[in-house]
Amino acid sequence: MGLDLVLRGGMVVTGSDSFRADVGISGGKIAVLAERLDGAQVIDAGGLLVLPGGVDTHCHIEQPEPDDFVQEESFISASASCFAGGTTSVICFVPQFKGHAIADTLTDYRRRAEQSMMDYSFHQIITDPTDDVVEREIPELIASGIRSLKVFLTYDPLHLDDRQYLRVLAAARRNRALVTVHCENYEAIKWRAEALVQAGMTAPKYHAWSRPKVVEREATHRAIALAELVDQPIQIFHVSCSEVAEEIARAKARGLKVWGETCPQYFVLGAADMDRPGFEGAKFMCSPSPRDAESAAALWGDVRRGTLDVVSSDHCGFSYGGSLGKKVHGENAAFPLVPNGVPGLATRLAIVFSEGVSKGRIDVNHFVRLTATNPAKMFGLYPRKGTIAPGADADVVLWDPGKRVTTTNALLHHAIDYTPYEGLEVTGWPVATIAGGRVVMRDGKVQAQPGEGRFLARDPYPLIAPTGVLADGFDAAPPG
Ligand code: URP
Ligand code: ZN
Repeated sequence: MGLDLVLRGGMVVTGSDSFRADVGISGGKIAVLAERLDGAQVIDAGGLLVLPGGVDTHCHIEQPEPDDFVQEESFISASASCFAGGTTSVICFVPQFKGHAIADTLTDYRRRAEQSMMDYSFHQIITDPTDDVVEREIPELIASGIRSLKVFLTYDPLHLDDRQYLRVLAAARRNRALVTVHCENYEAIKWRAEALVQAGMTAPKYHAWSRPKVVEREATHRAIALAELVDQPIQIFHVSCSEVAEEIARAKARGLKVWGETCPQYFVLGAADMDRPGFEGAKFMCSPSPRDAESAAALWGDVRRGTLDVVSSDHCGFSYGGSLGKKVHGENAAFPLVPNGVPGLATRLAIVFSEGVSKGRIDVNHFVRLTATNPAKMFGLYPRKGTIAPGADADVVLWDPGKRVTTTNALLHHAIDYTPYEGLEVTGWPVATIAGGRVVMRDGKVQAQPGEGRFLARDPYPLIAPTGVLADGFDAAPPG
């Protein structure tokens, strides 16, 4: 068999097994795993882990905002950053704006994404589930392979009330899509934020005060209860603490199809970071708020127990300086006016590996499940993505488990002018990334061309089928 590329002598790690093998790549796919292979190009992987390329199922890339600007991270810079950090596929977000059709943003967003150097798919954010959106646009969208919807239970101008959320759940159930949910209580945050601002408490650190754990826990409980009512599978996004994960554990124990995602920021950042001098705290401002070291330690327990299934970046494209980023409303804007979110495409794998595997909290197979296999399975990309097996796309990371790196923004290749992880010491770092059989990163140098990435259309898959359990046996959202 003529192989284009052979990765020789590494330790292949999947979500379930670790074994020594050469990996043979042909036509952009993994062709064979064997003891000894030869090919047109051979890369020595001796002493390295050979991992499936990371799958980041929550990142905001070149995302249009309602007030006519676009987040700073382009598909090109995002791809470079992903490759630098060992991620090879992403699912990012197309927003619908209130009062508008889905198509009003989707058509342009598809065009922007054509520049991507990495493979990508979309989640569709639904902010205005009108009859036309629910009955015509959502079915067409899902049939085109965008098989996940995102809803926000907070944020102006994105949030849905309970009735609207139910309509989206029902539309997803009828058309077989997964619903992902940002869980925080809109009214509670608004009420507290108004009181804080009135009291003159406007600095970045009060962002955390405006949204304590209980507002996330309440919304998570409600999101799960309403999904149970509709019998629609959901994934709870960016779980910040164990108190919220408990709601997911209870749902899983009842046999509901509810999955949990967390992010690196909840392992290594805290509310105290938002209390840095001046406006610096804005660099760490995201929602839900990072908590504290005790919460982070407890969150690892939820990861170990399998309550939290996925670790995504929730990467956001807001720089600290510049006119469109954290200071869009001025150097000392009150916290409710500061854009939420932190960058993290390139640092996701390294932080999870370092905090998880290097510190002995999880094994390396669990690391692969969290960062590649589970996200691919949950969003209908598996086994094309998320594993190393014959027939899978040749998306592979050569990982040096002992490499110690001090995180600095210069290493990350993103368009954002800072990283919240500046100075963070990590153990474990990617030394090469292969995407679709192409070597796209070697020793920190990215080599890829705009347009090389492909849109990943996602077909129906069994995981997102309803459970069949309905209150009183009555189906309020029957298939058409
Ligand atoms: O603060 C965050 N996470 N901003 C990004 C939007 C979201 O909530 O996913
Ligand atoms: Zn969110």
